[in-house]
Amino acid sequence: MLTNKTVILGITGSIAAYKAAELASKLTQAGAKVEVVMTGSATEFITPLTLRGVTGRPVVADMFEPTLEWSIEHVALAEAADVVVIAPATANIIAKMAAGLADDMVSLTVLATKAPVIVAPAMNVNMFENPVTQENLARLKARGFIIVDPEYGRLASGAKGKGRLAELDKIMAAIEGALGGSADLAGKRLVVTAGGTRERIDPVRYIGNPSSGKMGYALAEAARDRGAKVTLITASSLPQPEGITVVPVETAAQMKQAVDRAVAKADALLMAAAVADYKPRTVSRSKIKKARPGLTLKLVRTPDILGEVKGKFLRVGFAAESDNIIANAKKKLVKKNLDLIVANDITDKKSGFGVDTNKVTLIGKQGKDESLPLMSKREVADKILDRVVGLLK
Ligand code: C5P
Repeated sequence: MLTNKTVILGITGSIAAYKAAELASKLTQAGAKVEVVMTGSATEFITPLTLRGVTGRPVVADMFEPTLEWSIEHVALAEAADVVVIAPATANIIAKMAAGLADDMVSLTVLATKAPVIVAPAMNVNMFENPVTQENLARLKARGFIIVDPEYGRLASGAKGKGRLAELDKIMAAIEGALGGSADLAGKRLVVTAGGTRERIDPVRYIGNPSSGKMGYALAEAARDRGAKVTLITASSLPQPEGITVVPVETAAQMKQAVDRAVAKADALLMAAAVADYKPRTVSRSKIKKARPGLTLKLVRTPDILGEVKGKFLRVGFAAESDNIIANAKKKLVKKNLDLIVANDITDKKSGFGVDTNKVTLIGKQGKDESLPLMSKREVADKILDRVVGLLK
């Protein structure tokens, strides 16, 4: 969503200014073109050079820098912006924005832009609670500014109170929300599994399946883009996505261990992985020689991760079926005590294993089954997450 978007990041003089470097880094890594503007006091807390290093772009802090044709350029930039983010925003810049002043690079950019403006305040609790700051914030809100509320916690002064800059994930979610995405999973923790597990036979062979992990990765990325904190437990070798905690595993037993650990704080578990149902009873330490005329492997059941996992969170399962798709999926919904099951027909070439598209039916405990047309896995992911959002309410 952030790819090729122009994000103007306005930094002002709060101790939290150092956190803006990480925000700039996250935005840059997500593909955005990040243009940093700073107030003079912000440069006392963090150097423009740091921001320049992170974004790879010039940083503007001085309105009257002779090398800059800012009078023209700043307006052009403010006009080109897809979104403007002020993080951290001091009481001072909030007052200036509310009053329409434009005597520093940040307030000037805000006054000149038509893009959505996100404000993430960070300041001393008394300054934040002061009626004048609250009035200014209310004025900005009334004008359509998006305020990412500061959090309660230990402040730089040592006192506790509301005034800490919001978690960067929340600010990221607000940015994505302003860019047209939805931040309806902000603050939620999702655990997603992906890929096909492998069960070793000997040092060079395993029992596997053709699951690519694409559906699970699409889910994890879509959830991230909607503001969720995502843990992706993966048996796939797809490249690691940004902004997601990735836990690589190989076998069903390892996946179970990782899932049991990750769900402790989760709001939802989405089991998109194709987990092996059987594994060799013993793993041969040395390579089995093919001189033998035939080979019989003794297999034993692997744990049913989804069926056995304990805890209070939403459970979403997948049912890859080749026949009696809906009836089989419904049986699994009940047996594994799921809130939602995603059924797909793996005999269809455009749906399921390996490809980028999928054709699924969403089946909940109640209500009508939702049969979706063939769509990209990312679109399917968003449809599943729409249901998750509804169920989490
Ligand atoms: O394999 P089955 O069709 O029963 O899978 C349905 C769901 O259960 C899937 O979401 C899959 O990830 C999960 N599953 C599991 N542990 C297994 C097998 C499947 O959690 N051993």
